[in-house]
Parts: sequence; C-alpha cells; structure tokens
Amino acid sequence: MKTSYTEALRVLAGETYDVTFLEETDSTNRVAKGLAEQGAPEGTVVFAEKQTAGFGRMGRPFFSPGGSGLYFSLLLRPDPCCFDAARVTVTAAVAVAEAVEEVLKLSLSVKWVNDLYYQNKKVCGILAQGGTDGEALYCILGIGLNVFAPQDGFGALSEIAGALLNEKPNSALLARLGIAILDRFFALYKGEFTFCLKEYRRRSFLTGKTVTVVRGEERFCGTVRGIDDTGALLVEADGTVRAFSSGEIALEDYR
Ligand code: BTN
Repeated sequence: MKTSYTEALRVLAGETYDVTFLEETDSTNRVAKGLAEQGAPEGTVVFAEKQTAGFGRMGRPFFSPGGSGLYFSLLLRPDPCCFDAARVTVTAAVAVAEAVEEVLKLSLSVKWVNDLYYQNKKVCGILAQGGTDGEALYCILGIGLNVFAPQDGFGALSEIAGALLNEKPNSALLARLGIAILDRFFALYKGEFTFCLKEYRRRSFLTGKTVTVVRGEERFCGTVRGIDDTGALLVEADGTVRAFSSGEIALEDYR
C-alpha cells in the first residue's frame, strides 16, 4: 500500500465529510474526541496512516502499523434519548462488511459484537465510545481494518489477526473503501435498525456455537441462540436463555 491515500480520500470525501488525515498519531479515537470537545460537527472523520497507541475494547492495544490498514474515527452527534453504543457498533459492523463486499468482493462474518472475520482471522475491530462536551452528547466510532498484512506480519497476533488482501492495494482503491464504509454507515444509521440487524444476524458465525461469556468476574457457558432486537447476544444454558448486551466471548475451537 503506497502512502498515502490522503489525496484520493479528500477528493472522494468532497463536502460530505470533514476529513483530517494524519501520517501518524497515537489514536484516532483520542484525536476525534479532542475535536468533539471543541464542538466539531457530525461527519468529522480522522484517518491515520499509522497509530502508535491504537486501542480497542477493555483498553486493549490495537495493532496499527503503517501501510497496512484503514484506521479511522468518525464523530457522531446522536440524539441523547436514543443513543445506544451497541447499536452503533452493530451498524458499523454491517457497514464495513457491506463496503468490503462491494469494493473488494470479499465476504466477512461477524463475531458479536464488534469483530469482523475473514478466513477465520480477525480483520476488523470496532470501538464506539460515548461522551459529552458540556450538555451535548457525542459518540466516537473507531474502526480498524487490516487491509494488507504488515511487512513483518502480525507477530504475536498472527494466530488471531489476518488481513483482507495479499496484494498491496493502490491508494485509489483504499480511499474508495474508506469512503464506501462511511457512506454505508450513514445510510444504515439513518435507516431502520431492524434492516441492519437482519444483515448482522445473517453474517454472525456464533449462532449454534458453545461459548463462554465473560463479564468481569462472571463466566456464563452456553449455546448461542441468536441476537435479539436490541443487538444483545442470546445464550442458552440449562433451558434458560440469557440476553447479554455486553461481554467478551470465548470459543472452544475458534478465536
Ligand atoms: C477492538 O478490536 O476491540 C476494537 C478496535 C478498534 C480500533 C480502532 S483503529 C481506529 C480507532 N482508533 C483507536 O485507537 N481505536 C479505533
């Protein structure tokens, strides 16, 4: 992936998105949060070629080396009465999957709630963080997509992490993918959540699998029965079905 896709991205973004492009930063979520707190509008997006301290859920590091992925954060200004971070995450997962399918012709599956997989490897992580600047609510939606494997591989993560392509994409393609994700996200975000859920369920590979849901000290082992209308994971054990709106999933035979 030749650096950088900045120009192509700016052209495609046009007036629709206010794009900041950084060659290197610690975390685009952190930068976008700063912009939100200065009053930046919905549609502000921060892309970085490389992150030195990208992070995911539970503050875990998100490996973001230069020249291999799309790392970006989008600022949303949701209506406080209806804001739901899980819903934003589900919507983003579907948007990424559909954009990848449209632009690269590859099919991704979803591991509830915020991971996307390709050929049994995690290729994308999503992190939605809510906050307030005075009285206004904002949400930073961070997306990290491994487009091309880094030159030195994924190191200690190579059992878990993978990339979409073997060939380095050109910058025009990469920019097209970035904008397609944003366009798809907003189209879904403004539409009916039920439509989004249908697509999310279709791509979810956990259904029917035995999992352990980990929430703090709690461990709940059971069989995944599906995803309810709020996006919560339904897990059955001993004839009782529980709905989990958050938690980490451990699988016996999968990552
Ligand atoms: C996860 O796997 O738990 C979520 C990973 C989210 C990573 C993205 S990369 C762009 C944005 N900046 C960050 O620091 N995190 C998100």
